[in-house]
Amino acid sequence: MAYIISVVAQKGGCGKSTVARLVAAEFSRMPGNWDVKIADMDVSQATSFAWMQRRHKNKHTPEIRVEAYQRVEKALADAASLDVMVLDGAPHATAQTLEMSRASDIVVIPTCTAKDDLDPAVNLARELKAKGVPVEKIVFVLSRTGDSDAEVAEARDYLERTNFRVATGSLPERTAFRRASDLGMAMTETAFPSLNERATSCFASIVETLQQPQAETKKTKGKKAA
Ligand SMILES: Nc1ncnc2c1ncn2[C@@H]1O[C@H](COP(=O)(O)OP(=O)(O)O)[C@@H](O)[C@H]1O
Ligand SMILES: [Mg+2]
Repeated sequence: MAYIISVVAQKGGCGKSTVARLVAAEFSRMPGNWDVKIADMDVSQATSFAWMQRRHKNKHTPEIRVEAYQRVEKALADAASLDVMVLDGAPHATAQTLEMSRASDIVVIPTCTAKDDLDPAVNLARELKAKGVPVEKIVFVLSRTGDSDAEVAEARDYLERTNFRVATGSLPERTAFRRASDLGMAMTETAFPSLNERATSCFASIVETLQQPQAETKKTKGKKAA
């Protein structure tokens, strides 16, 4: 079985698709040729599918496959032959979000730092927990953060008061991230090493609950099942 990583939020625009591509790109880069795919569950916009087309057009490597799926069930069935399936969720998709989260090893909730963003993120995490998603699987990521360290620290503090995990670091709002995305690249593939490092360490924190030895075991199993 593949690792299933879901990236979800009730709101649009706080970085779900961008974080989903970061996770997929970093797994694809790991030694051992991990077989990774993004399931774009936002069929009405399919922005990650369009991102893949830009990536292929610009010949960026590693190659990352993206497919748009209408049904979570179908994406999960396809995950059986992979090492990692990253589910890029649609906004305002309560039933889909729950179905994705229940099947996931990690549920990533990117959130911006404003109260208007933090509250819906925390509410979603609590709702998922109430519906049986284990607390330790859920991780918040501070995304599109501004230049005020105090604001970011306050947002982190607010999230840490819940019992959910908060990924270390943050993903700042930067033109370079947007430009990279426009060219079909992930957040670790910008022209700026310091930004790439921030994205890399955020990825490492997101997946730290998947221990490397387990990752190897799971990967081997995935290969056998394929
Ligand atoms: N850290 C960032 N810096 C700059 N732009 C960002 C950043 N994260 C996301 N964006 C941009 O913000 C917009 C929304 O991000 P996206 O990942 O598509 O969010 P969602 O999938 O949650 O709607 C996109 O145009 C994306 O390129
Ligand atoms: Mg999206």
